[in-house]
Amino acid sequence: MTATILDGKAFAAAVRAKVAEHVTRLKTDHGITPGLAVVLVGEDPASQVYVRSKGKMTVEVGMASFEHRLDADTSESALLALVEKLNNDPTVHGILVQLPLPGHLDSDLVINSIDPAKDVDGFHISNVGLLGTGQKSMVPCTPLGCLMMLRAHHGSLSGMNAVVIGRSNIVGKPMAQLLLNDSCTVTICHSRTRDLPGVVRSGDIVVAAVGRPEMVPGDWIKPGATVIDVGINRVADGDRTRLVGDIDFASASAVAGAITPVPGGVGPMTIACLLANTVTACCRANGLPEPEGLAA
Ligand code: GUN
Repeated sequence: MTATILDGKAFAAAVRAKVAEHVTRLKTDHGITPGLAVVLVGEDPASQVYVRSKGKMTVEVGMASFEHRLDADTSESALLALVEKLNNDPTVHGILVQLPLPGHLDSDLVINSIDPAKDVDGFHISNVGLLGTGQKSMVPCTPLGCLMMLRAHHGSLSGMNAVVIGRSNIVGKPMAQLLLNDSCTVTICHSRTRDLPGVVRSGDIVVAAVGRPEMVPGDWIKPGATVIDVGINRVADGDRTRLVGDIDFASASAVAGAITPVPGGVGPMTIACLLANTVTACCRANGLPEPEGLAA
């Protein structure tokens, strides 16, 4: 079997087009421009790349982009004061504090100081609790992107066995909640899981989010399964580097029914879903109907 490639790049472009269409409507019909504020503390090179890319795409879909770059030695009180200012700014509908933060800052404290209604990352404990109880919330962007792709490919996910490899707060746990809310039977695997290959082989859906290059070989995959690879790992390749996922694409794509490539799979969906969450937050803040198909 050769798997269908789930093209995240094209899918993300379609999500951004839908977001842009809704932004135009908000502007012309209601005089509202959705705004996204991104806060970057310090100079982590990967974070700088992400933040630049987020700002560019925010503007491309017609939204307002507010970037706040703070020195690496910014105090916690100064950062909390900025978040409070953004919480109270009516032109800001979404707030994202780029992680990881420098070590002297308490990430949990900072994230939980964001107004949950503006928490477009879906990391605030209030949103985590709402998602866990199946209530309307802001949903973390990467798992939301994975869910959109799974729903687009399968229609209903009801009754499917879903195996999530990785238990992070950013991907693994919210992914499992979303799949459970869509009536999958969900197993979360981690470093202590016994017989990981056997458990993964039970999955009609496998989502890998561990950050270990090409850790999952094709013979762990049930024939015909749908495989979502969240990993983005840079590995040496001669005197160059290349990006690989957590799945061994060459062997897995010969067994799976459908699979996301790396790059060009889940990656582009994350920013697209951030923009979608910002429009959703803006609509909720203004008591307007939410765009269809852009939220969980
Ligand atoms: N750093 C890497 N990914 C993310 C993300 O999705 N949100 C935030 N806030 N920081 C990140």
